[in-house]
Amino acid sequence: MATPAAGPRLTFRPARDEDAPGLREIFNEAVQEGRVTFETEPRSLEEQRRLLAGASQDPRHPILVAELRGWTAGWIAIERYDRRPQLDDVGEVSVFVRREFRNYGVGRQLMRAVQNEAQRLGYRKLVGHVLADNYDSLRLCRATGWREAGRHERHARREGRLLDVIVVEYMVAAPAS
Ligand SMILES: CC(C)(COP(=O)(O)OP(=O)(O)OC[C@H]1O[C@@H](n2cnc3c(N)ncnc32)[C@H](O)[C@@H]1OP(=O)(O)O)[C@@H](O)C(=O)NCCC(=O)NCCS
Repeated sequence: MATPAAGPRLTFRPARDEDAPGLREIFNEAVQEGRVTFETEPRSLEEQRRLLAGASQDPRHPILVAELRGWTAGWIAIERYDRRPQLDDVGEVSVFVRREFRNYGVGRQLMRAVQNEAQRLGYRKLVGHVLADNYDSLRLCRATGWREAGRHERHARREGRLLDVIVVEYMVAAPAS
């Protein structure tokens, strides 16, 4: 493992079908932690495969994988934010880093990769919805140029409670002409 100061040498690429087990494992770690994603049920391999197949047929909604020496260290996705055509240049981002690889800058590098990809794809803005006590995610957003746009109070239902959600946004720079 690289030191945080040096930063791990990651490679980034679009996710492939065979990434399904690794992506699912990383996603389910976050579900099991509780209070970091809206999801409360582990994702099945079939569901992960279905999501990957959808992304591979939809170039505007990619999933990027960060790899470190053959390990899937994390992944990031641009998902549809809203079906209305007036909002089709706004994307919704989700990011997940394998627990053993956290705090080494993987999330930061994934964010940079997705921000570049969003610019290439002509997005105007990226949006995220973060549970208010997901401090790691809020720190990552602050460190990578996102701003907190507001707070939905008592918004996400989880185990019988209603949790506040912070709406974060990132303005994508127009590509240099
Ligand atoms: C949120 C998450 C993606 C961050 O990934 P990461 O690889 O650990 O983040 P990084 O190491 O790149 O850190 C990014 C910044 O946040 C800060 N940070 C992240 N986790 C931190 C922690 N536990 N304590 C202190 N600072 C932290 C770092 O200091 C860093 O800022 P810096 O570069 O200025 O020092 C990761 O914690 C995760 O996968 N969490 C579970 C899933 C989740 O919450 N996803 C987001 C909702 S969709």
